[in-house]
Amino acid sequence: MLDLPTPSFIIDAARLRSNLETADRIRRTTGCKILLATKAFALPALFPMMRDFLDGTTASGEYEARLGAECFGKEVHVYSPAYTEGEIDRLTGLAQHIYFNSAEQLARFGDRARAAGGQLGLRVNPGYSNATLGGALYDPCAPGSRFGEVRSQLDKVDWDQVDIFHVHALCESLASGSVGLIEHVSDQFSPWLDKVTTVNFGGGHFLNKPGYDVDALITAIRRFQDRFGLEVVLEPGAGLVVDTGELHASVLALHWNEEALAILDASASTHMPDVLEVPYRPVILDAAGPGEKLHTYCLGGKTCMTGDIIGTYSFDAPLQPGDRLIFTDQMHYSFVKTQTFNGTPLANLAVRWEDGQVELLSDFGYDSFRQRLGR
Ligand SMILES: Cc1ncc(COP(=O)(O)O)c(C=O)c1O
Repeated sequence: MLDLPTPSFIIDAARLRSNLETADRIRRTTGCKILLATKAFALPALFPMMRDFLDGTTASGEYEARLGAECFGKEVHVYSPAYTEGEIDRLTGLAQHIYFNSAEQLARFGDRARAAGGQLGLRVNPGYSNATLGGALYDPCAPGSRFGEVRSQLDKVDWDQVDIFHVHALCESLASGSVGLIEHVSDQFSPWLDKVTTVNFGGGHFLNKPGYDVDALITAIRRFQDRFGLEVVLEPGAGLVVDTGELHASVLALHWNEEALAILDASASTHMPDVLEVPYRPVILDAAGPGEKLHTYCLGGKTCMTGDIIGTYSFDAPLQPGDRLIFTDQMHYSFVKTQTFNGTPLANLAVRWEDGQVELLSDFGYDSFRQRLGR
Protein backbone atom coordinates (compact mmCIF):
# COMPACT_ATOMS: atom_id res chain seq x y z
CA MET A 1 0.00 0.00 0.00
CA LEU A 2 1.43 3.37 -1.08
CA ASP A 3 2.23 5.80 1.71
CA LEU A 4 0.55 8.81 0.11
CA PRO A 5 2.94 11.79 0.09
CA THR A 6 1.59 15.15 1.21
CA PRO A 7 0.18 17.34 -0.06
CA SER A 8 -1.87 15.07 -2.35
CA PHE A 9 -5.41 15.06 -3.66
CA ILE A 10 -6.80 11.53 -3.65
CA ILE A 11 -10.03 10.43 -5.30
CA ASP A 12 -11.99 7.38 -4.18
CA ALA A 13 -13.10 5.50 -7.29
CA ALA A 14 -15.88 3.61 -5.50
CA ARG A 15 -17.50 6.83 -4.32
CA LEU A 16 -17.15 8.31 -7.80
CA ARG A 17 -18.92 5.29 -9.31
CA SER A 18 -21.77 5.66 -6.86
CA ASN A 19 -22.16 9.35 -7.85
CA LEU A 20 -22.09 8.42 -11.52
CA GLU A 21 -24.89 5.92 -10.96
CA THR A 22 -27.11 8.84 -9.93
CA ALA A 23 -26.39 10.57 -13.22
CA ASP A 24 -27.02 7.37 -15.12
CA ARG A 25 -30.40 6.93 -13.43
CA ILE A 26 -31.42 10.42 -14.55
CA ARG A 27 -30.28 9.69 -18.10
CA ARG A 28 -32.05 6.35 -18.28
CA THR A 29 -35.35 7.49 -16.80
CA THR A 30 -35.62 10.73 -18.83
CA GLY A 31 -33.52 10.11 -21.93
CA CYS A 32 -31.66 13.36 -21.28
CA LYS A 33 -27.93 13.69 -21.91
CA ILE A 34 -25.49 14.37 -19.09
CA LEU A 35 -22.03 15.77 -19.78
CA LEU A 36 -19.09 16.20 -17.43
CA ALA A 37 -18.06 19.85 -17.10
CA THR A 38 -14.29 19.39 -17.13
CA LYS A 39 -13.85 22.87 -15.64
CA ALA A 40 -14.87 21.27 -12.32
CA PHE A 41 -13.06 17.96 -12.66
CA ALA A 42 -10.45 17.01 -15.24
CA LEU A 43 -8.74 13.78 -14.24
CA PRO A 44 -8.12 11.63 -17.33
CA ALA A 45 -7.27 8.53 -15.25
CA LEU A 46 -10.93 8.37 -14.20
CA PHE A 47 -12.43 9.11 -17.63
CA PRO A 48 -12.69 5.42 -18.68
CA MET A 49 -15.00 4.83 -15.70
CA MET A 50 -16.97 8.05 -16.25
CA ARG A 51 -17.44 7.36 -19.94
CA ASP A 52 -19.73 4.41 -19.13
CA PHE A 53 -22.18 6.65 -17.28
CA LEU A 54 -22.10 9.93 -19.21
CA ASP A 55 -22.64 11.20 -22.75
CA GLY A 56 -19.44 13.19 -23.07
CA THR A 57 -17.78 16.32 -21.80
CA THR A 58 -18.29 20.04 -21.97
CA ALA A 59 -15.25 22.26 -22.18
CA SER A 60 -14.44 25.86 -21.30
CA GLY A 61 -12.09 26.32 -24.23
CA GLU A 62 -9.67 24.69 -26.59
CA TYR A 63 -7.46 22.80 -24.15
CA GLU A 64 -10.37 21.20 -22.30
CA ALA A 65 -12.08 20.39 -25.61
CA ARG A 66 -8.92 18.62 -26.78
CA LEU A 67 -8.71 16.80 -23.45
CA GLY A 68 -12.33 15.66 -23.87
CA ALA A 69 -11.80 14.57 -27.47
CA GLU A 70 -8.53 12.72 -26.82
CA CYS A 71 -9.10 11.26 -23.35
CA PHE A 72 -12.88 10.95 -22.84
CA GLY A 73 -14.40 10.53 -26.29
CA LYS A 74 -18.15 10.55 -26.94
CA GLU A 75 -19.65 14.04 -27.42
CA VAL A 76 -17.56 17.16 -26.94
CA HIS A 77 -19.38 20.43 -26.26
CA VAL A 78 -17.60 23.72 -25.75
CA TYR A 79 -18.68 27.09 -24.44
CA SER A 80 -16.47 30.10 -23.92
CA PRO A 81 -17.42 33.72 -23.18
CA ALA A 82 -15.21 34.71 -26.14
CA TYR A 83 -13.37 32.82 -28.86
CA THR A 84 -10.30 33.94 -30.76
CA GLU A 85 -10.05 33.59 -34.56
CA GLY A 86 -7.66 30.66 -34.57
CA GLU A 87 -9.37 28.96 -31.65
CA ILE A 88 -12.71 28.61 -33.39
CA ASP A 89 -11.11 26.87 -36.37
CA ARG A 90 -9.22 24.45 -34.15
CA LEU A 91 -12.37 23.83 -32.06
CA THR A 92 -14.39 22.74 -35.07
CA GLY A 93 -12.00 19.79 -35.35
CA LEU A 94 -12.50 18.84 -31.69
CA ALA A 95 -16.10 19.62 -30.69
CA GLN A 96 -19.36 18.81 -32.42
CA HIS A 97 -21.31 21.32 -30.31
CA ILE A 98 -20.05 24.89 -30.12
CA TYR A 99 -21.82 27.40 -27.88
CA PHE A 100 -21.61 31.17 -28.23
CA ASN A 101 -21.99 33.74 -25.51
CA SER A 102 -23.63 36.46 -27.58
CA ALA A 103 -25.38 37.34 -30.82
CA GLU A 104 -22.16 39.10 -31.85
CA GLN A 105 -19.94 36.01 -31.36
CA LEU A 106 -22.54 33.86 -33.12
CA ALA A 107 -22.66 36.25 -36.09
CA ARG A 108 -18.86 36.40 -36.25
CA PHE A 109 -18.07 32.70 -35.98
CA GLY A 110 -21.35 30.80 -36.50
CA ASP A 111 -20.97 30.23 -40.24
CA ARG A 112 -17.52 28.74 -39.83
CA ALA A 113 -18.66 26.38 -37.08
CA ARG A 114 -21.74 25.41 -39.10
CA ALA A 115 -19.70 24.81 -42.26
CA ALA A 116 -17.53 22.39 -40.28
CA GLY A 117 -20.66 20.41 -39.40
CA GLY A 118 -21.09 21.54 -35.81
CA GLN A 119 -24.31 22.12 -33.90
CA LEU A 120 -24.48 25.67 -32.55
CA GLY A 121 -25.62 26.78 -29.12
CA LEU A 122 -26.39 30.22 -27.74
CA ARG A 123 -26.02 30.99 -24.07
CA VAL A 124 -28.97 32.93 -22.70
CA ASN A 125 -28.94 34.70 -19.34
CA PRO A 126 -32.30 33.59 -17.97
CA GLY A 127 -32.35 36.11 -15.14
CA TYR A 128 -32.78 33.36 -12.58
CA SER A 129 -30.64 33.54 -9.44
CA ASN A 130 -30.29 30.51 -7.21
CA ALA A 131 -26.55 30.06 -6.55
CA THR A 132 -26.18 28.70 -3.04
CA LEU A 133 -22.45 29.44 -2.96
CA GLY A 134 -20.63 32.72 -2.66
CA GLY A 135 -23.41 35.17 -3.56
CA ALA A 136 -22.85 37.38 -6.62
CA LEU A 137 -19.32 36.00 -7.09
CA TYR A 138 -20.79 32.66 -8.22
CA ASP A 139 -24.15 33.78 -9.61
CA PRO A 140 -24.03 33.75 -13.44
CA CYS A 141 -27.18 35.94 -13.45
CA ALA A 142 -25.83 38.56 -11.03
CA PRO A 143 -26.43 42.17 -12.18
CA GLY A 144 -24.08 43.08 -15.03
CA SER A 145 -23.09 39.44 -15.66
CA ARG A 146 -21.09 38.97 -18.88
CA PHE A 147 -22.55 35.51 -19.44
CA GLY A 148 -25.20 35.04 -22.11
CA GLU A 149 -27.74 37.25 -23.86
CA VAL A 150 -30.43 38.69 -21.62
CA ARG A 151 -34.09 38.35 -22.64
CA SER A 152 -34.36 41.92 -23.98
CA GLN A 153 -31.57 41.19 -26.50
CA LEU A 154 -32.92 37.93 -27.91
CA ASP A 155 -34.53 39.55 -30.95
CA LYS A 156 -31.04 40.51 -32.14
CA VAL A 157 -30.15 36.83 -32.46
CA ASP A 158 -30.16 35.00 -35.78
CA TRP A 159 -32.17 32.06 -34.45
CA ASP A 160 -31.86 30.17 -37.75
CA GLN A 161 -28.29 29.55 -36.66
CA VAL A 162 -29.13 28.21 -33.20
CA ASP A 163 -29.74 24.54 -32.40
CA ILE A 164 -29.17 24.61 -28.63
CA PHE A 165 -30.72 27.02 -26.12
CA HIS A 166 -28.19 27.11 -23.28
CA VAL A 167 -28.65 28.44 -19.76
CA HIS A 168 -26.26 28.08 -16.86
CA ALA A 169 -27.61 29.77 -13.75
CA LEU A 170 -27.00 27.49 -10.77
CA CYS A 171 -24.14 26.87 -8.36
CA GLU A 172 -24.22 24.03 -5.82
CA SER A 173 -28.01 24.20 -6.07
CA LEU A 174 -30.36 21.58 -4.66
CA ALA A 175 -33.29 20.23 -6.68
CA SER A 176 -35.46 23.26 -5.89
CA GLY A 177 -32.95 25.32 -7.90
CA SER A 178 -32.83 22.86 -10.80
CA VAL A 179 -36.62 22.53 -10.93
CA GLY A 180 -37.06 26.28 -10.50
CA LEU A 181 -34.72 26.95 -13.43
CA ILE A 182 -36.50 24.47 -15.70
CA GLU A 183 -39.89 25.98 -14.83
CA HIS A 184 -38.58 29.53 -15.23
CA VAL A 185 -37.23 28.75 -18.72
CA SER A 186 -40.54 27.05 -19.64
CA ASP A 187 -42.56 30.05 -18.47
CA GLN A 188 -40.38 32.89 -19.74
CA PHE A 189 -38.72 31.65 -22.89
CA SER A 190 -41.22 29.46 -24.77
CA PRO A 191 -41.21 31.68 -27.94
CA TRP A 192 -37.50 30.95 -28.38
CA LEU A 193 -37.71 27.29 -27.40
CA ASP A 194 -39.83 26.74 -30.50
CA LYS A 195 -36.80 27.69 -32.59
CA VAL A 196 -34.33 25.10 -31.26
CA THR A 197 -33.94 21.32 -31.01
CA THR A 198 -32.19 21.11 -27.66
CA VAL A 199 -32.09 22.87 -24.30
CA ASN A 200 -28.98 22.65 -22.17
CA PHE A 201 -29.78 23.50 -18.54
CA GLY A 202 -26.10 24.00 -17.67
CA GLY A 203 -24.34 22.95 -14.50
CA GLY A 204 -24.69 23.72 -10.82
CA HIS A 205 -27.13 20.83 -10.25
CA PHE A 206 -25.61 19.41 -7.03
CA LEU A 207 -26.96 15.94 -7.89
CA ASN A 208 -25.16 13.89 -5.26
CA LYS A 209 -25.28 16.34 -2.38
CA PRO A 210 -27.26 14.88 0.52
CA GLY A 211 -30.71 16.46 0.35
CA TYR A 212 -30.79 16.74 -3.46
CA ASP A 213 -34.16 15.33 -4.57
CA VAL A 214 -33.22 13.48 -7.76
CA ASP A 215 -36.80 12.37 -8.38
CA ALA A 216 -37.98 15.99 -8.37
CA LEU A 217 -35.42 16.76 -11.09
CA ILE A 218 -36.56 13.73 -13.11
CA THR A 219 -40.19 14.86 -12.87
CA ALA A 220 -39.31 18.41 -13.97
CA ILE A 221 -37.30 17.16 -16.96
CA ARG A 222 -40.15 14.88 -18.02
CA ARG A 223 -42.68 17.70 -17.69
CA PHE A 224 -40.46 19.92 -19.81
CA GLN A 225 -40.00 17.22 -22.45
CA ASP A 226 -43.75 16.56 -22.58
CA ARG A 227 -44.50 20.24 -23.09
CA PHE A 228 -41.79 21.13 -25.62
CA GLY A 229 -40.63 17.82 -27.15
CA LEU A 230 -37.02 18.98 -27.01
CA GLU A 231 -33.81 17.13 -26.23
CA VAL A 232 -32.53 18.01 -22.74
CA VAL A 233 -28.87 18.24 -21.73
CA LEU A 234 -27.36 18.81 -18.28
CA GLU A 235 -23.68 19.59 -17.77
CA PRO A 236 -22.85 19.30 -14.07
CA GLY A 237 -19.32 19.22 -12.74
CA ALA A 238 -19.34 19.47 -8.95
CA GLY A 239 -22.54 17.41 -8.63
CA LEU A 240 -20.79 14.42 -10.22
CA VAL A 241 -17.77 14.43 -7.95
CA VAL A 242 -19.03 15.89 -4.69
CA ASP A 243 -17.53 14.13 -1.69
CA THR A 244 -15.39 11.71 -3.69
CA GLY A 245 -11.96 12.66 -2.43
CA GLU A 246 -9.68 14.48 -0.06
CA LEU A 247 -6.61 16.66 0.19
CA HIS A 248 -4.03 15.11 2.52
CA ALA A 249 -1.66 17.52 4.26
CA SER A 250 1.00 17.34 6.97
CA VAL A 251 1.71 19.58 9.92
CA LEU A 252 5.18 21.03 9.37
CA ALA A 253 5.66 23.30 12.37
CA LEU A 254 3.94 24.72 15.42
CA HIS A 255 4.09 28.36 16.42
CA TRP A 256 2.56 30.84 18.87
CA ASN A 257 1.34 34.42 18.46
CA GLU A 258 -1.42 35.15 20.98
CA GLU A 259 -2.88 31.81 19.86
CA ALA A 260 -1.57 28.40 18.83
CA LEU A 261 -0.66 28.24 15.15
CA ALA A 262 0.19 25.31 12.91
CA ILE A 263 1.96 25.59 9.56
CA LEU A 264 0.98 22.98 6.97
CA ASP A 265 2.42 21.79 3.68
CA ALA A 266 -1.01 22.48 2.17
CA SER A 267 -1.94 26.05 1.53
CA ALA A 268 -5.20 27.86 0.92
CA SER A 269 -3.75 29.98 -1.86
CA THR A 270 -1.85 27.16 -3.58
CA HIS A 271 -4.14 24.14 -3.10
CA MET A 272 -7.59 25.31 -1.98
CA PRO A 273 -7.98 28.80 -3.47
CA ASP A 274 -11.76 28.74 -2.99
CA VAL A 275 -11.14 28.90 0.77
CA LEU A 276 -10.04 32.49 0.13
CA GLU A 277 -12.11 33.28 -2.96
CA VAL A 278 -15.59 32.07 -2.00
CA PRO A 279 -14.64 32.16 0.92
CA TYR A 280 -15.50 28.92 2.72
CA ARG A 281 -14.25 26.74 5.54
CA PRO A 282 -13.11 23.26 4.48
CA VAL A 283 -13.95 20.32 6.73
CA ILE A 284 -11.06 18.41 8.35
CA LEU A 285 -11.62 14.80 9.34
CA ASP A 286 -11.85 14.40 13.15
CA ALA A 287 -11.49 18.15 13.78
CA ALA A 288 -14.10 20.57 15.10
CA GLY A 289 -14.70 24.29 15.40
CA PRO A 290 -12.51 26.52 17.61
CA GLY A 291 -12.72 25.51 21.28
CA GLU A 292 -15.04 22.55 20.70
CA LYS A 293 -12.24 20.06 21.30
CA LEU A 294 -9.36 20.46 23.74
CA HIS A 295 -6.63 21.82 21.46
CA THR A 296 -7.31 24.73 19.12
CA TYR A 297 -4.99 25.92 16.31
CA CYS A 298 -5.13 28.44 13.54
CA LEU A 299 -3.93 26.58 10.42
CA GLY A 300 -1.91 28.33 7.73
CA GLY A 301 0.05 27.41 4.62
CA LYS A 302 3.81 27.60 4.23
CA THR A 303 3.59 30.38 1.67
CA CYS A 304 4.70 33.90 2.55
CA MET A 305 1.22 35.37 2.12
CA THR A 306 -0.07 36.60 5.48
CA GLY A 307 -3.64 35.78 4.47
CA ASP A 308 -2.86 32.18 3.53
CA ILE A 309 -4.98 30.98 6.43
CA ILE A 310 -7.20 27.93 6.17
CA GLY A 311 -9.10 28.49 9.40
CA THR A 312 -9.17 27.76 13.13
CA TYR A 313 -9.91 24.18 14.19
CA SER A 314 -9.76 22.12 17.36
CA PHE A 315 -8.46 18.60 17.88
CA ASP A 316 -8.62 15.93 20.62
CA ALA A 317 -4.82 15.79 20.99
CA PRO A 318 -2.12 18.45 20.58
CA LEU A 319 -0.83 18.62 16.99
CA GLN A 320 2.70 17.41 16.32
CA PRO A 321 4.94 18.02 13.31
CA GLY A 322 4.33 15.11 10.96
CA ASP A 323 0.65 14.73 11.85
CA ARG A 324 -1.58 14.20 8.85
CA LEU A 325 -4.69 16.34 8.30
CA ILE A 326 -7.33 15.28 5.81
CA PHE A 327 -9.46 17.96 4.14
CA THR A 328 -12.65 16.33 2.87
CA ASP A 329 -14.65 16.92 -0.33
CA GLN A 330 -11.83 18.44 -2.35
CA MET A 331 -12.39 16.90 -5.78
CA HIS A 332 -14.44 19.66 -7.38
CA TYR A 333 -12.62 22.79 -8.48
CA SER A 334 -9.77 22.70 -5.89
CA PHE A 335 -7.36 20.67 -7.97
CA VAL A 336 -8.34 22.02 -11.38
CA LYS A 337 -8.00 25.56 -10.07
CA THR A 338 -4.50 24.80 -8.91
CA GLN A 339 -3.51 23.10 -12.18
CA THR A 340 -4.92 25.23 -15.00
CA PHE A 341 -8.44 26.55 -14.37
CA ASN A 342 -10.77 26.11 -17.37
CA GLY A 343 -7.70 24.93 -19.30
CA THR A 344 -6.99 28.62 -19.78
CA PRO A 345 -3.50 28.78 -21.30
CA LEU A 346 -0.91 29.93 -18.78
CA ALA A 347 0.73 33.28 -19.47
CA ASN A 348 4.16 32.83 -20.99
CA LEU A 349 7.30 34.34 -19.54
CA ALA A 350 9.48 36.75 -21.45
CA VAL A 351 12.31 39.21 -20.85
CA ARG A 352 13.19 42.43 -22.63
CA TRP A 353 17.00 42.51 -22.52
CA GLU A 354 18.89 45.79 -22.22
CA ASP A 355 19.57 45.88 -25.99
CA GLY A 356 15.77 45.90 -26.57
CA GLN A 357 15.54 42.28 -27.74
CA VAL A 358 12.55 40.38 -26.36
CA GLU A 359 13.19 36.74 -25.56
CA LEU A 360 10.38 34.27 -24.89
CA LEU A 361 11.42 32.01 -22.02
CA SER A 362 8.54 29.55 -22.08
CA ASP A 363 6.04 27.95 -24.39
CA PHE A 364 3.17 26.79 -22.18
CA GLY A 365 0.87 24.91 -24.51
CA TYR A 366 -1.57 22.01 -24.42
CA ASP A 367 1.18 19.56 -23.44
CA SER A 368 1.96 21.45 -20.27
CA PHE A 369 -1.80 21.59 -19.40
CA ARG A 370 -2.21 17.87 -20.09
CA GLN A 371 0.92 16.86 -18.22
CA ARG A 372 -0.31 18.58 -15.03
CA LEU A 373 -3.39 16.36 -14.94
CA GLY A 374 -1.48 13.13 -14.35
CA ARG A 375 -1.28 10.03 -16.49
C1 LIG B 1 -21.33 27.03 -18.49
C2 LIG B 1 -21.07 26.13 -17.32
N1 LIG B 1 -21.50 24.85 -17.36
C3 LIG B 1 -21.31 24.00 -16.35
C4 LIG B 1 -20.64 24.39 -15.21
C5 LIG B 1 -20.41 23.39 -14.11
O1 LIG B 1 -20.99 23.82 -12.93
P1 LIG B 1 -20.94 22.92 -11.61
O2 LIG B 1 -19.57 22.39 -11.47
O3 LIG B 1 -21.31 23.87 -10.52
O4 LIG B 1 -21.94 21.82 -11.79
C6 LIG B 1 -20.18 25.71 -15.10
C7 LIG B 1 -19.48 26.19 -13.91
O5 LIG B 1 -19.05 27.29 -13.77
C8 LIG B 1 -20.39 26.61 -16.19
O6 LIG B 1 -19.95 27.87 -16.15
